[in-house]
Amino acid sequence: MGHGIAQVAAQAGYQVVAREVGDERIQKGMGRIEKQLARAVEKGRLEQSAADEIRGRITTTTGFDGFEDCDLVIEAITENLDRKLELWRELDGLVKDEAVFATNTSSLSVIDQAAATKRPNQFVGLHFFNPAQVMPLLEVVQTVTTDDDTFKTAWQFGESLKKTLVHARDKTGFIVNRLLVPYMLDAVRAYEEGVGSIEEIDIAMKAGANHPMGPLTLLDFVGLDTTKSIADIMFDEYRERRFAAPPTLRKMVSAGWYGRKSGRGFYDYSGDAPVAVELGL
Ligand code: 3HC
Repeated sequence: MGHGIAQVAAQAGYQVVAREVGDERIQKGMGRIEKQLARAVEKGRLEQSAADEIRGRITTTTGFDGFEDCDLVIEAITENLDRKLELWRELDGLVKDEAVFATNTSSLSVIDQAAATKRPNQFVGLHFFNPAQVMPLLEVVQTVTTDDDTFKTAWQFGESLKKTLVHARDKTGFIVNRLLVPYMLDAVRAYEEGVGSIEEIDIAMKAGANHPMGPLTLLDFVGLDTTKSIADIMFDEYRERRFAAPPTLRKMVSAGWYGRKSGRGFYDYSGDAPVAVELGL
């Protein structure tokens, strides 16, 4: 998600400092950005010079070089509150006081992060969707402490990225994940109950509801580990069965079958085309 956010910001003309935890991850993320830009040039949607300019606006770091002068900092790290708080504490001391902080959290309450900083009034949620370069939506989340100027800055930033914006309240899962996560979890339950095979469930929702991806393909795309983390956080918050991770999802995550990123989830991605892996339930 981080590389996608960096790319859309650079495309909108911003100077971007992208931070990753290691050189390998930086190379991977920048490689993806370069591939996307090359594709746009190939398709005639972008001049080579414009692609070079966009690439040139992104600098990378494994530390915090260049963060001092940033006007806006967006975190897109693992969905773990303690790790996010640790990051914000570090950033609070080194980023200029006027800067706005934003979390790309998909399920944690934004106020829990805002309140841990010295600038709870300058803290918002900016929730992007995967792939961030393609998906139009951006949820802009205002907490009880976010001041109007900060919300306006965040909203104008979203507009400058040419995103479709919605003002979401600070309720776990916001709008999309509150509706989408139970749907994906229910697809796993439908599979567990033998309503259909993996492929049949996906085909049905594509052809019957006109979704671009079936729910199990979408789970592989978002990441089974990520979805389970989101579900756990939402279940913890709401205590409703619809947010509870089904046993199959839990076991697949334990097995390291995270979906596309690990090469296996509901589908096996080692060949030319994904192949459904029936789990023999
Ligand atoms: N990264 C960047 N760009 C990508 C991409 C990726 N992973 N996958 C596809 N694209 C681009 C392609 O390059 C192509 O761009 P082009 O038109 O400029 O060439 C464009 O998207 C269309 O791709 P394809 O023609 O290959 O394939 P599709 O038409 O099937 O589109 C898709 C791919 C956009 C991913 C589409 O299948 C889709 O919309 N899927 C649903 C995605 C979705 O629901 N995302 C939200 C997940 S929930 C979430 O993110 C919230 C979080 O909190 C969990």
